[in-house]
Amino acid sequence: MTVFRNLFLTAILLFIFSDGNAQLNTSKAIAYCAVQADKTLKLIPADSINIPRNIEQGQKQWRFIGYKDWCSGFWPGVLWYVYEGTHQLKFKTEADKFSRELTPLSMMKAFDHDLGFQLFNSFGNGYRLTKNPEYKQIILAAADTLATLFNPKVGTILSWPRPVANMEWPQHNTIIDNMINLELLFWASKNGGSKRLYDIAVSHAKTTMKNHFRPDYTSYHAVVYDKETGQKIKAVTHQGYADDSMWARGQSWAIYGYAMCYRETKDPAFLDFAEKVTDVYLKDLPADLIPYWDFNDPAIPNVPRDASAAGVVASALLELSTLTKNKAKAKVYRKKAEQMLISLSSGQYQSREKNSAFLLHSTGHKPNGSEIDASIIYADYYYIEALLRLKKLQKGLSIYTNLSS
Ligand code: GLY
Repeated sequence: MTVFRNLFLTAILLFIFSDGNAQLNTSKAIAYCAVQADKTLKLIPADSINIPRNIEQGQKQWRFIGYKDWCSGFWPGVLWYVYEGTHQLKFKTEADKFSRELTPLSMMKAFDHDLGFQLFNSFGNGYRLTKNPEYKQIILAAADTLATLFNPKVGTILSWPRPVANMEWPQHNTIIDNMINLELLFWASKNGGSKRLYDIAVSHAKTTMKNHFRPDYTSYHAVVYDKETGQKIKAVTHQGYADDSMWARGQSWAIYGYAMCYRETKDPAFLDFAEKVTDVYLKDLPADLIPYWDFNDPAIPNVPRDASAAGVVASALLELSTLTKNKAKAKVYRKKAEQMLISLSSGQYQSREKNSAFLLHSTGHKPNGSEIDASIIYADYYYIEALLRLKKLQKGLSIYTNLSS
């Protein structure tokens, strides 16, 4: 029965997609997110471990985390986006409250590279929407803290400054996810921080471009470098199926990261690279455009999807559609992003009454057996970010403007 149901749903999606004019009702989808976020707010414990991270498959209860967890910035970021989409002040109040829980991270010794995910998604969005000067100081301090992990002999930021399996500590490791945290450095360098932050971000992106990709532009998850000579020792996976497989979320970080690097630098090499890492991802997707967790898992189609990768890519494609110089590609990127968001907004992927997250069917760390086919907060973050970007484009606005009421 499930097979027939899935075939039926796929046929409906294909029917919708064959109409080039199918438009997602972004206002309705954003209103849905607000309803779900409101439900989550009512479930939050009065505790210091109170930031929602994930809901395992078939459950309703969030697993809550403290501010040091790498996912701590997504929930405040979600609240800032819901505030931007609805202009309801209660979401602003909550976004401010949850962002402030993360303040100590900006000044304590860096535990890993995730400071952008943590402090830019929270305070960065908060500053964009409110211009609160306190937020700006926290973001600038966070950028300086992230810069302490830069190794000039290698040219990249050390992602995990501690022993992690297969990373040959104390050698230098860099993971593709780290591309996203460069946005914090670019922003800080343009808003009162040191020019060195910009140079670090560019060095990281260029070194990663050289060492982190196979000839077909698919990404390795992790590269280990000799910390003294800067020589590449090996390229391996941590969360993917195999060392040489295309882990869906890893590739999504590359797509988003290089589009952002082009936006920040206007270096055409980054735009060209963003298009290459995107095109290899787009050519092998299932009909509903939501990837399997790893493109090379031999058990496909009987493996979980990763809705979080789809959210990251949808958001990145909307940006890339406005950056590319190739008009035909711009149309493809915009249309594919809309199709991804139509799929994510269907009953197949939205959580609705099943739980209070926005989305189902994300995969966090399959080799570890954790967060498999689950609701995960970063999927919700990139989904609503993409919805807001699409709504702005539908209104003829730049994706970089704030949505006014
Ligand atoms: N480590 C970030 C991720 O799971 O994508």
